[in-house]
Amino acid sequence: MTIELAPSILSANFARLADDAKAALEGGGTVLHLDIMDGHFVPNITIGPPVVASLRRALPDATFDCHLMIENPDNYIPAFAEAGVNWISVHQEACVHLHRTLQLIESHGCKPAVVINPATPVHTLDEVLDMLHHVLVMSVNPGFGAQQFIRESLNKIKTLAEVRDSLGLSFRIEVDGGVALDTVEDIVRAGAELLVAGNAVFGRGDIRENAKRLLGAARAAMLTRA
Ligand code: DX5
Ligand code: ZN
Repeated sequence: MTIELAPSILSANFARLADDAKAALEGGGTVLHLDIMDGHFVPNITIGPPVVASLRRALPDATFDCHLMIENPDNYIPAFAEAGVNWISVHQEACVHLHRTLQLIESHGCKPAVVINPATPVHTLDEVLDMLHHVLVMSVNPGFGAQQFIRESLNKIKTLAEVRDSLGLSFRIEVDGGVALDTVEDIVRAGAELLVAGNAVFGRGDIRENAKRLLGAARAAMLTRA
């Protein structure tokens, strides 16, 4: 498994979004994580398809990882696919017909993924794991950046990695929330390899340098992973 850094633009300066995103990718980020919030599923509102489409024009080659924190995601999946995202993840907690929603994502040419909140057990995904490009484990309650990492999510990452091995599947394991220099070693050792980071990359200091240091720490942890 290859470690990848997915800078989350939630903590970027939205007045210079494309420039901040480019800096994070120049620092070693390989996936741009886009947090879409509707003010219903989570208590915050961010961006919609027009902003994503503009960002796509500015960054034609980047992989866009679209994290939908919205109710009724089926109504918006076509528009985000049209805007140019590559991966779409939906919350298990927001989908009544999760299997159908994953099929819908795939039918629009995007890679399907499911996100689980801190209170949602890994095993709620057992019946759809073979359909997934990745599982996103939330290590904070979704809605805001710069929250404290919830350490219990490490056990969920470990469980997922064990289930994947036992079933011979190949979905990737992504983690989102509180990924930073002081948590990344444990996160990588637990088995995550797609690392979303907002505050640690865009919060303060030089974006390129922040991304580079975080990725370096993650790769070092990977080398010593059992
Ligand atoms: C939270 C979002 C995250 C957020 C992570 O609801 O899904 O992607 O940007 O933020 P940090 O890395 O600041 O904890
Ligand atoms: Zn996210």
